[in-house]
Amino acid sequence: MIKKKVLDAINKQINAELYSSYLYLSMAAYFEEENVPGMANWMRVQSKEETTHGMKLYDFVIERGGRVVLDAIDKPPVEWKSPLDVFEQSLAHEVKVTAMIGALLDLAVAEKDHATASMLQWFVDEQVEEEANAEKIVKNLKLAGDVAGALFMIDKELAARTFVDETAGGAAE
Ligand code: FEO
Repeated sequence: MIKKKVLDAINKQINAELYSSYLYLSMAAYFEEENVPGMANWMRVQSKEETTHGMKLYDFVIERGGRVVLDAIDKPPVEWKSPLDVFEQSLAHEVKVTAMIGALLDLAVAEKDHATASMLQWFVDEQVEEEANAEKIVKNLKLAGDVAGALFMIDKELAARTFVDETAGGAAE
């Protein structure tokens, strides 16, 4: 069985992951309007990834005999100043999520919930990748500045991203 304190915190994290999905979907919509389809694609893939993060926690709660309780998802922002602003916000968001995962892991350890702590290790590792991905794009966009050709190349590169469910199978599962 899972302790209520830990269960409530995981349910909150499910909400945070689903909010992340919603946020990135909103960023994708912004990019569609700005006519940068590669960036929109990258954000659509990111949104799907976030749903799988939420579902990994969702399935874990059920496996432990807990009850998943879904809360309202906050309204994400709609407008940004530029592609760089979007990716800076996305990096800031991931830094926040990393802190949330860290706090959740601290709670699991304090409550001696080893199963939850072990499951969360996957998220600790995933957050390293999440921050690095956003940071790389922020750096590239800063280098590109306002050079249209450079922005076009970045957009083309981001168009190549495809969705892979990293929560399914593999060593991290
Ligand atoms: Fe679910 Fe972007 O971390």
